[in-house]
Amino acid sequence: MCGIVGVLGHNQVAPILVEALRRLEYRGYDSAGIATVNKGALERRRAVGKLVNLSDLLVHNPLAGHAGIGHTRWATHGAATEHNAHPHACGPVTVVHNGIIENFRALREKLAPHGLSASTDTDTETVAMLCAYHLAQGLDPEAAVKATVAELDGAFALLFLFEGQEDLMIAARKGSPLAIGHGDGEMYVGSDAIALAPMTDQITYLEEGDIAFVTRAGAKIIDVNGQLANRAKQKIETQATVIDKAGHKHFMTKEIYEQPVVMSEALSRYAPNGAPAFPEALDFSRFDRIVMVACGTGYYSCLTAKYWFEQIARIPCEVDVASEFRYREPPIAPRTLAIFVSQSGETADTLAALRYAQGKADMIVSLVNVGTSSIARESDLALAILAGIEVSVASTKAYTNQLTLLALMALACGQQKGVVSDEQVATYVSELRGVPDLMRQALKLDAQIADMANALAPAQSVLFLGRGAMFATALEAALKMKELSYIHAEAYASGELKHGPIALIDPTLPVVVFAPFDRLFDKTVSNMQEVMARHGNVTLITDAKGLSEASAGTQNRLELPITGDLSGPIVYALPAQLLAYHTAMAKGTDIDQPRNLAKSVTVE
Ligand code: F6R
Repeated sequence: MCGIVGVLGHNQVAPILVEALRRLEYRGYDSAGIATVNKGALERRRAVGKLVNLSDLLVHNPLAGHAGIGHTRWATHGAATEHNAHPHACGPVTVVHNGIIENFRALREKLAPHGLSASTDTDTETVAMLCAYHLAQGLDPEAAVKATVAELDGAFALLFLFEGQEDLMIAARKGSPLAIGHGDGEMYVGSDAIALAPMTDQITYLEEGDIAFVTRAGAKIIDVNGQLANRAKQKIETQATVIDKAGHKHFMTKEIYEQPVVMSEALSRYAPNGAPAFPEALDFSRFDRIVMVACGTGYYSCLTAKYWFEQIARIPCEVDVASEFRYREPPIAPRTLAIFVSQSGETADTLAALRYAQGKADMIVSLVNVGTSSIARESDLALAILAGIEVSVASTKAYTNQLTLLALMALACGQQKGVVSDEQVATYVSELRGVPDLMRQALKLDAQIADMANALAPAQSVLFLGRGAMFATALEAALKMKELSYIHAEAYASGELKHGPIALIDPTLPVVVFAPFDRLFDKTVSNMQEVMARHGNVTLITDAKGLSEASAGTQNRLELPITGDLSGPIVYALPAQLLAYHTAMAKGTDIDQPRNLAKSVTVE
C-alpha cells in the first residue's frame, strides 16, 4: 500500500527520495511523487504509473532542494492520475499520506467558508488544507500539525513539509506504521525500515498516536497525550532489509525457492528437539475453543489449520476473514484462544478484528512476519514466522511458514490437552522435518509445471478441487491464479461439485485436482471421474500411489512425493504457486506487482 519517505539531507534529496521509493515499490502502487523545499519554496513532481515515469520527469524537469518528501500511491479516493498523486499541497504546506481520512467530507465543508476548496478527488488533500488553515490562523507548523491531527478520523501515517522550513519534517502515526531514521547530521522518515536501509540502520519506530518533529539534529516525539516520549533507537539487521532477486527473474520465484530454507529455520526455532516448543505463556490447556482470523492467503492457512486443530487436537476451531469477523461481532466464549495471522502485521481489517477480540478472548496470539508490526505489538504473544522479508505481492513463503507454525501449534495443543501422545507428536514432527526435502523434490518439477501452465494460459477460467485440508490448498491455488495471471479461478470442496459447479464443466474449463493418496483419495477421485464423464479437462496433482490408481482419463498429471496429513498442504502449495507463476509468465502479466494489488493492505 502507499509508501512514504522523507529526507533532511546534506545534498540534493530528489535522487535519494526516488531510490528510497524504489525500495517501497514492493508494496504495490499506481502513481508516485516527490516534493522539496528549495530556497524556501515548495515544489512537486508527480507521475502516474511506474517510478521510472517519475525518474524520467525529473530528468527533464529536475527538483532541487536538501529537504523533501516522497510517496508511492495505491489509489483509494480518486483515480490514479497525476492530479490525485501525492504529495498534496495547499499554500505553505505539502503532505504525503498512507491510510484513509474518514471525515474528509465534513472537513471540506468546514474549510469551504474559509476560502479553502479541494482541487483533487483525494481525502489526503483535506489534510493539507486543514493544516494550511491552522497556519493561516497564526499557528506555527508544530502547533498546526497537532491541531490538524486532532481533527482527523481514520487510520493514517502522515508526513508534512513546509514552505520556508528547510530543516523540518513532521510525521504523525495513527493506524499506519512510520519509522524515523537517524543519519550523520541527516534524518529520514519511511513507511518501513526497508526504505531507509541504504541510508541508515538506526531506526526509531513511532507508536500509535505519536507525532515526530524531525530536524537534522534529531527527532522530538510527543505521544498520544501530548507528552514528550522517549522512543528507543534500534539497530536494524542489514539482512532484514536486503532486497535482492538473487539471480531470479522475479522476487516471487526467489521466494518460492527459499521455502525449504525458511521452513527449516521455523522448525529449528519452534521444534528444536523433536517436539513443539512455544513460549510457556501459550498454554493450550487453558482453552476450549480457538478462533482464527486473517485475510487472503493468511485466511487459507487458517482454514488448513482448522482441519489440524480439529482432527489432531480435537479442539473446536472457528475461522473467519477479518473483514467479516470485525463487523459480525461474534460472541467470544470464555476459554477462547484467538489467533490472528498476518504476513505484514499491518492489515487494517485483521488489526481491527484483533482489537475487537481484545478483552473478550482469553489470549490473543498473532503469527506475523514483521516483529515490529502493529498486530505483533497489540497481541498477548506474537510468534515470528521467520520467512524473511517477502517482497512479491503474492505471498508464498509466508504461507508455508504460517502453515508450519500452525501445524506445530496443533500438535502442542493436542499434547497439552492429552489427546495426542508424545510418540505421536514425535512422529508428526519428524514428518514436518522431512518437508524441506519434499519441497526440494517438488521444485524439481518446475519445468513440467511450466508446460502445464502454457497449456492453461489461454483458458478463460480454471477450477481447482480438493477435499479436507486440500480444499484450502485449492482455494489458495485459485487465489494465486487470479492475482497473478488475471484468469478467473474458483475452488470447490470436490464433494460440492455436484451441487452446482458441475454445470460449468466442458472441455474448455481446465480442472486441477489436488489429491494426495490419503483416506479421502477415493472420494476425490470419484468427483474427478464425474468431471471426466462430462468431457472435463483434468490435471491431477497427486503422488505415485495416486497416479497408479487414477491417472486414466486425465489430461495432465503431476507426481509429487508421498506426503502425510501435516506435510501434504505445505508441499502441495508449491505446485499451486508455480502453476500460477508460469501461467502469469505465459500471459506476460506483472508478476511481482500484479495490477490493483498492494503488499500491505493498511486500509479497510
Ligand atoms: C495473496 C496475498 C494476500 C494477503 C492478504 C493479507 O497472495 O498475499 O491475500 O495474504 O492481503 O495480508 P497479510 O498477511 O499481510 O495480513
